Amino acid sequence: MSSYKTRKTPGDTTWFAHDRFGMFIHWGIYALPARNEWIKNMECITEEKYQRYFENFNPDLYDPHEWAREAKAAGMKYAVLTTKHHDGFCLFDSKYTHYKSTNTPAARDLVKEYVDAFRAMGIKVGFYYSLIDWHHQDFTIDKYHPRRNDHDADTQNIGRDMTRYAQYMRDQVAELLTGYGKIDILWLDFSYHDTPGDRWPKGKGKEDWESEKLIALARSLQPDIIIDNRADIEQDLWTPEQYQPAQWIQHGETGEYVTWEACQTFSGSWGYYRDELTWKSPEMLIRMLINTVAIGGNLLMNVGPTARGYLDNRAKEALAVYANWMKYNSRSIYGCTMAEPDIQPSLPDDCRYTQSADGKRLYLHMYAWPFMHIQLPGMAGRVAYAQMLHDGSEIKITEGELKHYGEGEGLPKGSDLLVMLLPVVKPDVLVPVIEIFLA
Ligand code: GLC
Repeated sequence: MSSYKTRKTPGDTTWFAHDRFGMFIHWGIYALPARNEWIKNMECITEEKYQRYFENFNPDLYDPHEWAREAKAAGMKYAVLTTKHHDGFCLFDSKYTHYKSTNTPAARDLVKEYVDAFRAMGIKVGFYYSLIDWHHQDFTIDKYHPRRNDHDADTQNIGRDMTRYAQYMRDQVAELLTGYGKIDILWLDFSYHDTPGDRWPKGKGKEDWESEKLIALARSLQPDIIIDNRADIEQDLWTPEQYQPAQWIQHGETGEYVTWEACQTFSGSWGYYRDELTWKSPEMLIRMLINTVAIGGNLLMNVGPTARGYLDNRAKEALAVYANWMKYNSRSIYGCTMAEPDIQPSLPDDCRYTQSADGKRLYLHMYAWPFMHIQLPGMAGRVAYAQMLHDGSEIKITEGELKHYGEGEGLPKGSDLLVMLLPVVKPDVLVPVIEIFLA
């Protein structure tokens, strides 16, 4: 059994830590301007001008079954969809606002279709819900608000009431957590600190969101739900964003390992960004998943569907990279975690280990392909069998020394040395994996 214990949290993250890989979906009317989901903030767009995206939102090619098929093929086991993002637009039929998909040309509850499609595909269903809301009339103007530069911004703030807004959020979260069956994840986003001395010094956090009430409500409606930490109260998930930790994240006060999930994008934006060109290479995509699991984390990889509702070819190709690799190598991801401390020292250069949670199998991911041999010091006597994971072909092992016809100088020896004999040509797999059955 894995010796790593994670900090106890209010929700049960057992399935989550097993499944490791999920799909984030950022979709909303910001897909029409197609230049980042923060566009309303970045360009200080007025309500009136932003309305054109609402009026023209017509995702005639929206087929969540196809999204779900692609997610499943990529090996993603759960999904998180933006039911509402910072612009306040709701993809669901909320009683508490007119600012929702049913009032656009889409004319239907798009969240419902997502839930049905993903659930039918056996993928767990999560909801992202933005705490920030640049549309709601009670949400006070602050440093991120699109109206922050208006000369009369202070006057506009008069009468805005965050208490009413907090109630609105509870009402909507209650709708989301009662109207769509079992919801596995609630991904609240996000809180920000005060910045004294700034034009807008006050941040927003748990007092503004009334996070305790919001979270208590969510847990009462969905007792098994997993909730992230972004409502400014520690919950189940630590969520590093657009950044890959180099070590298993530890709790700031106790040093315990925590349950964490890196969220990442294929290109540099969450929402569909037509002209963004920093698409990650196939190799980087696979390595990011391996690197994450190798230090005990999950990866939530994002797609930003187009305004017409489909995943463009760039996104499909990126998903296909995962599909091709995961089809043959997912055993080194699901149910796996960081290798045990006594195994780590044997890790060769340019490699990453993961280990099954039952401790029985070790996976050696090879980022570079060495010539003929790979040495695992300290592993002699600990390996019963080894094979390439993608095709189940045997990898021969010698112990005590590197066996070679020559008697040249410098052949490695050592009572605890284990040597694996590799094919000369790197197998046709983006990152080859050796599956090691521990003795
Ligand atoms: C951020 C951004 C946002 C994105 C999210 C995903 O906090 O505000 O646009 O939804 O991170 O992690």
